[in-house]
Amino acid sequence: MANSQPIEWLGNKVKLLDQTRLPQEEVYLELTDYHDVASAIKEMKIRGAPAIGVAAAYGIALGVLKTSAKSKDEFLIKLKGITQAMAATRPTAQNLFRVINRMKQIAEAGEDVDEIRKALVSEAIKIHSEEAEATKKLAQFGAELIQNGFTILTHCNTGALATAGYGTALGVIKQAKEQGKNIRVFATETRPRLQGARLTAWELKRASIPFTLITDSMAGYFISRGKISCVIIGADRITSNGDTANKIGSYTLAVLAMEHGIPFYVAAPTTTIDLSLASGDDIPIEERSPQEVTHIQGVSIAPEGTQALNPAFDVTPHYYISAIITEKGIIKEPYIERLKKIA
Ligand code: MRU
Repeated sequence: MANSQPIEWLGNKVKLLDQTRLPQEEVYLELTDYHDVASAIKEMKIRGAPAIGVAAAYGIALGVLKTSAKSKDEFLIKLKGITQAMAATRPTAQNLFRVINRMKQIAEAGEDVDEIRKALVSEAIKIHSEEAEATKKLAQFGAELIQNGFTILTHCNTGALATAGYGTALGVIKQAKEQGKNIRVFATETRPRLQGARLTAWELKRASIPFTLITDSMAGYFISRGKISCVIIGADRITSNGDTANKIGSYTLAVLAMEHGIPFYVAAPTTTIDLSLASGDDIPIEERSPQEVTHIQGVSIAPEGTQALNPAFDVTPHYYISAIITEKGIIKEPYIERLKKIA
């Protein structure tokens, strides 16, 4: 897995880079059971909206390869159980639900059960290559917004690890660097799961892009002192009006960016857009275990019995977003019209 690709289909198993072990260890898991793929998504061994979608597609492929169903009806009942297990992993990532619907449609359109199995495996591979291609394209569009000499602040991890492709926000940054632009990145550590400190720093180091790690609460300090040229983040779900759910702390960065007059960009493939929702108020926000807040990497940092809350995402209203970068181009307000056209 050169270039830190987090997931690979091996014909009858799924190979995953266990992201919970990075950066200390590069451990690969070979999964043969769809339940294990669902657990890997839930436990964030693989994470990031596009990569979650790809993992679920391969998980469904694994599941159907193992079913002994002979009739189509029996097959569809088994498929329902598999897709329900995938849907119960991470509720915010739109890419996951899009993949599930796509796989269901393929199954429903088929006749012969063996043919449907084959078609679902091919579809999973196709979903992976389409997502990878989309992030490569959106990175090319997004790099136009990055000027020589920019210092870019990014949040969470949005690179190859999160996308099973080139990357969204981090893809834009990598592409700008490949174009020869002299850039620097400020990466937020991204509490509580430290995707910035552990994963973005790991990817930036491997890509030889100069970066500085800051804690999430330092962002206002550096932005207010004029040290940041723009903020770029990824997205877990974008509703039809442009409201965007992304890693908790994204909204804070958007407000800071507007207050200090710097652009705030969202980079995402169109598979992250959910036109069925009118606004961010309707996005289901994943609540994770309070233990992720009271403990860091398994070590308790708060007095025993401390109550904590752990929403994994927040919603940035569209009017804070300077542009949304997709594989079909860069769009600006009015998002409500322009998202409909491209998605
Ligand atoms: O909880 P995570 O690590 O899955 O959250 C990831 C993010 O919030 C990313 O910014 C988002 O999925 C877009 S990644 C291309």
